Amino acid sequence: MGSGPAILITGASAGIGLALANRLAGENRLVLSGRRSREECGDALPEGALYVQADLADPKRAVDAIEAALRTERIETVHRLVVNAGTGYYGPPDSEDAEKIRRTLDVNLTAPVLLARRMARRLEKAGGKIVLIGSVAHRGSPNMPAYAASKAGLAGLARSLASEWQGRIGVQLIHPGPTATGMHEKAGYQPGRLGRLFFPAAGMADEIARLMRTDRTVATVSAGARLRRLVRGRWS
Ligand SMILES: NC(=O)c1ccc[n+]([C@@H]2O[C@H](COP(=O)([O-])OP(=O)(O)OC[C@H]3O[C@@H](n4cnc5c(N)ncnc54)[C@H](OP(=O)(O)O)[C@@H]3O)[C@@H](O)[C@H]2O)c1
Repeated sequence: MGSGPAILITGASAGIGLALANRLAGENRLVLSGRRSREECGDALPEGALYVQADLADPKRAVDAIEAALRTERIETVHRLVVNAGTGYYGPPDSEDAEKIRRTLDVNLTAPVLLARRMARRLEKAGGKIVLIGSVAHRGSPNMPAYAASKAGLAGLARSLASEWQGRIGVQLIHPGPTATGMHEKAGYQPGRLGRLFFPAAGMADEIARLMRTDRTVATVSAGARLRRLVRGRWS
């Protein structure tokens, strides 16, 4: 594991976050968090990464745990904070009860706001950047209104932080399109054949890593967006 600037990634125990952690391993010091235990992650995590088990459905407790781990490891600066952990439920209107709605909003929105607040000092010291992982669902998505609302909320968070931080800390919002991870099944959605069109998790991680090196403040990564970029590159 590199001893370079620290990169903190939430939701790094599976899916896009795990693929991104493996993509960024080597040159950077990685601090990863997930809901499951380190043992449950098996040998999937990059070697040498610091792992913090923290359930973001309890935002204060989870962010306290992440901060405590940074303090213990004397990590005073965070170069990149990738707020990637996400959850949601898909189904008919009466299937999303108050507890599921609370969980979705706490993991996807309350925790990112709190994490941004608590990590600001470390990010500023590093001249760093927060990278919020949204979703194309932020435009509105049937049968998953709480999830879509939480992702739309990240856009407001990004604009507010950018206005408050005035460039002292960078702010980037990346909206992935459908990606082949376990998320859909966990949410109660079976993509079926449509799943074949999904972005592979490693490919999405590559695109996110590429965008993280740019100054773009908002970007969408989907098969359609990739196609448009290829076409523009060829004919412009
Ligand atoms: N997959 C897609 O099609 C897609 C499309 C657009 C946007 N996104 C966004 O991309 C991000 C990553 O999604 P993914 O597809 O990689 O999902 P995933 O495979 O289900 O992984 C989600 C990650 O978030 C963590 N997480 C979930 N609930 C948590 C909680 N309560 N506390 C702490 N960590 C929690 C999971 O931890 P554990 O595994 O330890 O539970 C896991 O590491 C999410 O923000 C999602 O909304 C995904």
